Amino acid sequence: MTKKFRAHTLNEFIVQQQNAFPYAKGDLTRLLGHIAIASKIVNREVNMAGLVDILGETGKENIQGETVKKLDEFANEQFKTVLGSSIEVCGLATEEEEDVVSFESDLSRDGKYIVCMDPLDGSSNIDVNVSIGTVFSIYRRISEIGSPSVEEDFLQPGTEQVAAGYTLYGSSTMLVYTTGMGVTGFTLDPSIGEFFLSHRKISMPDPGTIYSINEGNYANFPPGVKQYIKYCQEIDPPTHRPYTSRYIGSLVADNHRNMLKGGIYIYPQTTSYPEGKLRLTYECNPIAFLAEQAGGMATDGMGNRILEIPPQSIHQRVPFFAGPTNMVNQAEKYMQINS
Ligand code: AHG
Ligand code: MN
Ligand code: MN
Repeated sequence: MTKKFRAHTLNEFIVQQQNAFPYAKGDLTRLLGHIAIASKIVNREVNMAGLVDILGETGKENIQGETVKKLDEFANEQFKTVLGSSIEVCGLATEEEEDVVSFESDLSRDGKYIVCMDPLDGSSNIDVNVSIGTVFSIYRRISEIGSPSVEEDFLQPGTEQVAAGYTLYGSSTMLVYTTGMGVTGFTLDPSIGEFFLSHRKISMPDPGTIYSINEGNYANFPPGVKQYIKYCQEIDPPTHRPYTSRYIGSLVADNHRNMLKGGIYIYPQTTSYPEGKLRLTYECNPIAFLAEQAGGMATDGMGNRILEIPPQSIHQRVPFFAGPTNMVNQAEKYMQINS
């Protein structure tokens, strides 16, 4: 007799995980559910891009001086609306807002959590139908419940994350998250609009054979990064073949591939971005948490664990090295020799 396959939905899985904690009240479960809903709305729009007037630029610049695409703005508004009308979240920090957004309704003020997110990552890929993502971090607030959220709530080190994850709008749409008990991936069945468990206990192959870096910036890289790239191009000890280079230009998509296949992602300091380009609170911390939970590591290339860097401001940038432990350690070695 053939065994009947019973698929788990995202919601069922989160509830099951919650049941492992007898005192959990379900707030985090509901919050992850809200993120899934907003992601589905963004996904719908991403899928129709090209048919509706959502491609292109808004004509505005964000706080980072970068051009804001219509989809960046749409995604930001969606997450703001969904999280702002929830009772679990009291505040939000996003790439598109200069200051933190404090949700001030009576219900929101009682929310236990704050969220840091990049609502739409990989904007340069939007208009050309290449993978983009949403990436988020969830923290327990440190300010008093019942009061408005304050900036300090958002400046906690990444070690304090309660959960982190991303939605990847790729050839299929996936939601991947961790609550510190491993990394789990869910794939959207678009015909019924439900995320189903598809990747249990994601674990990064180590060492992998992929390196992901924007080599167009080569001339502006620190000497250690240049030497590590040469190492990748020349030798892969187990196979005596060079590593392979893959770079999409979307932190979420690049790290998703690397996490499944085994690869290192590097966005180092450059002459144009002396502190690195990626933002600590809403890009590097969530990806670092996932990388560690998948058995890898994430540093700034100078021996500092990303999750332990205390953020000074919500839009702070940091050099970012993430991937399998052996690969990150090797890259760090080249950085140290050349420092
Ligand atoms: P965003 O689209 O949110 O501004 O982020 C883009 C980031 C990141 O996703 C990507 O890895 C990196 O910028 C690409 O930068 P380069 O084009 O400089 O390689
Ligand atoms: Mn981004
Ligand atoms: Mn973005």
